[in-house]
Amino acid sequence: MVFKKDFLWGAATSSHQVEGNNHNDWSEWEHANCARLASEAAKRNANAPTRIPDYIFQNYPNPFSKENYISGVACDHYNRFLEDFDIAKSLGHNAHRFSIEWSRIEPEEGKFNEKEIEHYRQVILALKERGIEPLVSLWHWPIPLWLKNKGGWLFSETPEYFKNYSRKVVSELGSEVKFWITLNEPGIYAANSFLKGLWPPQSKNPIEYFLVVSNLVKAHKLAYKEIKKINNSHQIGIAQNIVWFETENSNIVNLFLKKIANWWVNYYFLNKIENEQDFVGVNSYFHNLINFGFGKNKNGKVSDISWEIKPETLYYSVKTISKYKKPIYVTENGLADSRDIYRADFIKESLNWLSKAINDGVDVRGYLHWSLTDNFEWAHGFWPRFGLVEIDYKTLERKIRPSAWEYKKIIEDSKSI
Ligand code: BGC
Repeated sequence: MVFKKDFLWGAATSSHQVEGNNHNDWSEWEHANCARLASEAAKRNANAPTRIPDYIFQNYPNPFSKENYISGVACDHYNRFLEDFDIAKSLGHNAHRFSIEWSRIEPEEGKFNEKEIEHYRQVILALKERGIEPLVSLWHWPIPLWLKNKGGWLFSETPEYFKNYSRKVVSELGSEVKFWITLNEPGIYAANSFLKGLWPPQSKNPIEYFLVVSNLVKAHKLAYKEIKKINNSHQIGIAQNIVWFETENSNIVNLFLKKIANWWVNYYFLNKIENEQDFVGVNSYFHNLINFGFGKNKNGKVSDISWEIKPETLYYSVKTISKYKKPIYVTENGLADSRDIYRADFIKESLNWLSKAINDGVDVRGYLHWSLTDNFEWAHGFWPRFGLVEIDYKTLERKIRPSAWEYKKIIEDSKSI
């Protein structure tokens, strides 16, 4: 493999998924919807082939129980970040992506909580002390309750609020952080929350969807300018979910579908912010084989949540966005594999493919595996296990999975080249 000595190696998390005790629009939604989500999971499970595998039911919490759908104390990372970063260091990581929780920093409109800012200062210092470079996301989906009550991302002033929040965070914590990710997967959020009705506020309204996308574009641009004003050397981008669209053959209809899908899913947002990004963050999970339609993947190998396991996706994902001629950081890539039987090979093969992309001339500078620890997987709750480190949700004990050591070997090998 061809990774340079200063390549960033590590894992990623997000505040709501690991911290515990958050009070935001998501936590409120969880309480209102946990019973429904549990019973829907049970009903859905009657329908093969997307059943929750039997072995999952040996773990806690049970996917058919309400507690699976309430983030609660999550991994208690808020209190255990030192322990978690010790683990990351022992695994050879030199970088870590995490998100700052807006609802903690600004629990009331315009009132910033200095204690919480200090908390994140300690988080950043803890990483630095361990030789781990922080990549900080400013928004990874939940919003403060006061903002939700104003209409959330539908509200025309929300981009301004985001700018103010970003200014506060970066002016307080910016001296220790070089990499800022303003938004995580804005397109996925907008689609699941405003088009498909899956996530809060569960809207299914195309007009709202477009309004939200446009507000997210505005929010990024405003925050970008604001952060650059504070210090022009900050490196700023978004984490974009990139899907590899492959055509089954070169039939003109398929090629056309591929063009449209690439334009809408992969490029639309990035094109809008082309002049306001210093790097592109790639979250890579999905491949889609186009054959007079979408979603006909042939590969039978799937993860616990029935997502296709296809390591070359990473190669095509970074290739897809190399046209922007910006440095690329893989800000997420991983799989739900509670038994840890696929993860080590998945990491090895994905990194081989990434190495091939670098050989082809793509400027990839980092790889952050999703995720450092098991965590709260949004509307699926806790049962999908994405962690290099297993969490026992009864005791909160951490157990390093064997694949994490395999990942460490790759990191170490790359350093000796
Ligand atoms: C999100 C993560 C999520 C992961 C796995 C990404 O789209 O950014 O928050 O846990 O996918 O579903």
